[in-house]
Amino acid sequence: MGYGLGFETLERETRIEALPVEGEIPGWLGGSLLRTGPARFEVGARELSHWFDGLAMLHRFGFAGGAVSYANRYLESRAYRAVEETGAIGYSEFATDPCRSLFRRAMSLFQPALSDNCNVNLVRLGERFVAMTETPLPVEFDPATLAAAGVGWKVPGQLTTAHPHLDRGGGMLNYAARLGPRSSYRFFRLAGAPGATPEIVASLPTRRPAYMHSFGLTERWLVLAEFPFVVNPAALALSGRPYIENYRWRPELGTRFTLLDRSGGEALGPFTADPCFGFHHVNAFEDAHGDVVADVCAFDDAGIVKCLYLDVLRAGRAIPAPELTRFTISPATGAVARERLVDEPVELPRIDYGRCNGRPYRYAWGAGTDGSGFFDRIVRADLRERTTVTWSETGCWPGEPVFVARPDAGDEGDGVLLSVVLDGAAGSSFLLVLDAATLAEVGRAIVPHHVPFGFHGQYAAAA
Ligand code: CO
Repeated sequence: MGYGLGFETLERETRIEALPVEGEIPGWLGGSLLRTGPARFEVGARELSHWFDGLAMLHRFGFAGGAVSYANRYLESRAYRAVEETGAIGYSEFATDPCRSLFRRAMSLFQPALSDNCNVNLVRLGERFVAMTETPLPVEFDPATLAAAGVGWKVPGQLTTAHPHLDRGGGMLNYAARLGPRSSYRFFRLAGAPGATPEIVASLPTRRPAYMHSFGLTERWLVLAEFPFVVNPAALALSGRPYIENYRWRPELGTRFTLLDRSGGEALGPFTADPCFGFHHVNAFEDAHGDVVADVCAFDDAGIVKCLYLDVLRAGRAIPAPELTRFTISPATGAVARERLVDEPVELPRIDYGRCNGRPYRYAWGAGTDGSGFFDRIVRADLRERTTVTWSETGCWPGEPVFVARPDAGDEGDGVLLSVVLDGAAGSSFLLVLDAATLAEVGRAIVPHHVPFGFHGQYAAAA
């Protein structure tokens, strides 16, 4: 299969001033690509269960004058420190629980036994950099040293997403689920200033919260998509099963969209579509007819979660193909139209966020697959023409392609993509720079070791 190395532990922490470069890295790239992702997949003699369980490592690719530096460091979360100090898992991960002798599961949701292993994404909020996962325990870090630097912020609930949206005026919007006898979905705003506290802008009661990895945003609306992969909060607290094993696929619920006003909190919906499952909203916007368009990387069902267990991935079983799917929600009629936008599968989606987030847009980029294994290509989707362009190289396995706009960019999508690619034959990874319009290679910087497959990262312009 050739990509198994992407699920193997990387012990080595390093700082390299200048990676070997092939091609030419644009001189206008002057910031850093910061990424987080799992990098250790066993603790003592114990294997972690799921890709999402791996202990978080931060990676930084720094750009200056066409040169590329690299540094990596484990995120010094309390979950990581517990592993270092005891040699055992101390906190409850996505699909792996600590040993029974170390903890009492029944306490975990309502006591601070949740992991702060922030291996999913990170955000820059003002001058602060914060790594995130789906527990309410974000970890701030120093982008220069990659050292942990304290707690990110308080989350008004027990679950959250690692996919906040930047808000007008410099803060961010994110989601939380408050679980208990009366559970609710909540959206909160966090101002950019250090020490700011979250302000709840909209909430919605729920009896069976859906698994939530991201949400959509338009100029007016927060777009909540409840895929029918739901949990009984009491079971979550009492079952004694790892977190994600408490969720159930309930297709009879359909996929339910609710629109919540960003300023007043007013809720419209739910508007119901056929059942499907997704991790990632790509973008959302209001169209000229007053409808709300929500683009999602959609799977037929929640089976993808099971496909991402490490034993399944290492066995080489192909991941299901994610479909770039457009839901057009009509508040006037209550109808939800659904269409697939392009033939190529697309996951780990990115857009030209600075220009297009929450607004009509034309281009999306992501990782794709031919359906026989893992992500093996980078895809550019033109959503107006409904066409795609791809980049691939034999034996290479790319991650999320992060779009960076050229400083003097004229049109949407004028810039480059940055993607960390595993070269299976070489046994190492490289940072790939592609022209975002043509997917022609601009250059690459070779890392001396493999970078385990991660999820998300951000490009931070130099301050
Ligand atoms: Co994600």
